[in-house]
Amino acid sequence: MDFGLTEEHLMIRDAARDFARTELLPGVIERDTHQRFPAEQVKKMGELGFLGMMADPKYGGGGMDTISYVLVMEELSKIDASASVIVSVNNSLVCWGLDTYGNDAQKEKYLTKLTTGESIGAFCLSEPEAGSDATSQKTTAIDKGDHYVLNGTKNWITNGSTADYYLVIAQTDREKKHRGINAFIVEKGWDGFEIGVKEDKLGIRGSDTHSLIFNDVKVPKENRIGEDGFGFKFAMKTLSGGRIGIAAQALGIASGAYELARDYSKVRKAFGTEICNHQAIAFKLADMYTNITAARHMVMQSAWDKDMGNNYDVSGAAAKLFASQVAMETSVEAVQIHGGNGYVKEYHVERLMRDAKITQIYEGTSEIQKIVISRALLRD
Ligand code: CAA
Repeated sequence: MDFGLTEEHLMIRDAARDFARTELLPGVIERDTHQRFPAEQVKKMGELGFLGMMADPKYGGGGMDTISYVLVMEELSKIDASASVIVSVNNSLVCWGLDTYGNDAQKEKYLTKLTTGESIGAFCLSEPEAGSDATSQKTTAIDKGDHYVLNGTKNWITNGSTADYYLVIAQTDREKKHRGINAFIVEKGWDGFEIGVKEDKLGIRGSDTHSLIFNDVKVPKENRIGEDGFGFKFAMKTLSGGRIGIAAQALGIASGAYELARDYSKVRKAFGTEICNHQAIAFKLADMYTNITAARHMVMQSAWDKDMGNNYDVSGAAAKLFASQVAMETSVEAVQIHGGNGYVKEYHVERLMRDAKITQIYEGTSEIQKIVISRALLRD
């Protein structure tokens, strides 16, 4: 493995760092408080090429590698994990899924708009009774010849009301279980497609999370992705890459919290000296740094595996499992180092702590990552 970053990598990382500091930081507390979607910032991220980084340039994508993507995810997430999950879902679940498994007509019609930020995408797998147990899809798509009729409810959908295009997973043949599942491209505004309630969340409050209701929605057959019955594999393959993005998000939350705690400890005084001079604080910083460095190696390895064409199901799952735990632990300790100020919004660490929790839940809980990892270990 060679993680030596190229000039291009450094340039894209620095562009993301600058963007996060100048464009995301100023309104981040307000957006979190009022659950406001960063619409203006998302538009700018589209212009900077952050929304379709890995997709084929023929369809407006950046044609970049996964290393570039995780570098951008880390930088954005240090400041605003709500903005970074929008980037992550659009890049790794929607654009990558369409770019890799969509046909030319689908790419021409949808991907070209999703890569540039002209349109936003959502990935709709979870249901009220099918979260971790993703094969238990209750949403149905009945084959009617030239179209399918879609019925059901999806839950906890990132970009739920702001997306224009939705990749929806549904059961087309219950007898065939997971082999009778398909993925469809559904457009906002189609008859029978309703946006449900907005979730009032603990963290990533700037990202907009909704349930979606499909009531006899007519989906043209040409909007099915891949061969009949490919939907569950589509979801699993896409999520394997998505988990690398969320691992990078967790890494960013951890490094953001660490940097704030380190800087604060150098100016805050107690017992006659800056608190970093107390070993109780200095050792916390040493632990944070060590864990973050280990998490960064795992995130880079999984990105490298993907770029090299290696299997990344396990390295991505392990990176997400570990980095999300590091995000949680580091952000809790960052609040602790800030003391009373850590509990106050203006110091940012309490938000990072709330945001960290979701990285242990979405795109597969930590327990699901352990299933993915342990099954692979025992199979080999
Ligand atoms: N790549 C390709 N195929 C895969 C695969 C992968 N990574 N993982 C599983 N499959 C295939 C299997 O080969 C099998 O197919 P065959 O029988 O044809 O061989 C099929 O999928 C079923 O696999 P399993 O028998 O392993 O299925 P399972 O029911 O035991 O569970 C699971 C699999 C890994 C637990 C899966 O259900 C899972 O990942 N659950 C978590 C779902 C998840 O991550 N949800 C996140 C929602 S999206 C989100 O959060 C986005 C957002 O908005 C931020």
